[in-house]
Amino acid sequence: NWSMTDFIDQQIAQIRATVGNKKVLLGLSGGVDSSVVGVLLHKAIGDQLTSIFVDHGLLRKGEADQVMASLEGKFGLNIIKVDARERFLSKLQGVSDPEQKRKIIGKEFIEVFDDEATKLNGIDFLAQGTLYTDVIESGTSTAQTIKSHHNVGGLPEDMQFQLIEPLRTLFKDEVRDLGEKLGMPSDLVWRQPFPGPGLGIRVIGEVTEDKLAIVRDSDLILREEIKNAGLEREVWQYFTVLPGIRSVGVMGDGRTYDYTIGIRAVTSIDGMTADFAKIPWDVLQKISVRIVNEVVHVNRVVYDITSKPPATIEWE
Ligand code: XMP
Repeated sequence: NWSMTDFIDQQIAQIRATVGNKKVLLGLSGGVDSSVVGVLLHKAIGDQLTSIFVDHGLLRKGEADQVMASLEGKFGLNIIKVDARERFLSKLQGVSDPEQKRKIIGKEFIEVFDDEATKLNGIDFLAQGTLYTDVIESGTSTAQTIKSHHNVGGLPEDMQFQLIEPLRTLFKDEVRDLGEKLGMPSDLVWRQPFPGPGLGIRVIGEVTEDKLAIVRDSDLILREEIKNAGLEREVWQYFTVLPGIRSVGVMGDGRTYDYTIGIRAVTSIDGMTADFAKIPWDVLQKISVRIVNEVVHVNRVVYDITSKPPATIEWE
């Protein structure tokens, strides 16, 4: 008779017993797993938990504010928000290779987290949103040979913490269930997967602030229209990419020579294989019209109709 409410009570008791009066550190990514860990730990040990949230400037529009408003504002977590946007952007300058970008973002992330963590004194524990699937998968490296998946939860190797991983017996759907039982808002609990390197791998090639803005603005429109159409839970992951090519268009009396935006939307179980989502034409049309009208320097929108394999979900 396993119930999530029992699980919560058990975990809280166990966390309290383990932590005692010591302090715990958590890296928040804005994703479901680390957010649920944060809320659960806060419920168990209150202000003995300190969270670090690194804004690397590669988040979706409004995401950083949303995380802060919800987890700090509503749930009362003590969050150190680090504005590292310039730092990441300058490191990425001139870099266009996808794996190189991942490496830089991953390394920089750990350094920023490390810098903040060393400013804090007397931390004994590090909490992580490790899931059961992560536990099984560690040791096999098949997923990593295609793309080196950098996950925002990565921890500095030389740090001496004891780990707390309250989700390590749970699957993703159970984590969402747990989040809902903890009273977390559904837009947080049902957040779609978002890669650690964020929009850094959705601007194809070199990442610049201008290009990030185009991806952010078009992505917001896509998310709004998917939501309006009630497709949020049917489509597993959906986002826009900026391939960096420009093409000719016409607007009013004039010729334009502007960017193309690609829309990627897939159905999937676990991200290992995927099919492109059969979004109704009229929804796609609305998205396309809005993007071209509202996002400057975009004059063309294309829909990615490849499955995985042979394509991957992300373009980089
Ligand atoms: P691909 O593009 O490999 O993506 O088909 C499968 C799933 O993994 C996500 N993804 C990443 N997640 N760090 C992450 O944390 C990464 O470097 C990364 N690359 C891809 C992708 O968003 C999809 O959900």
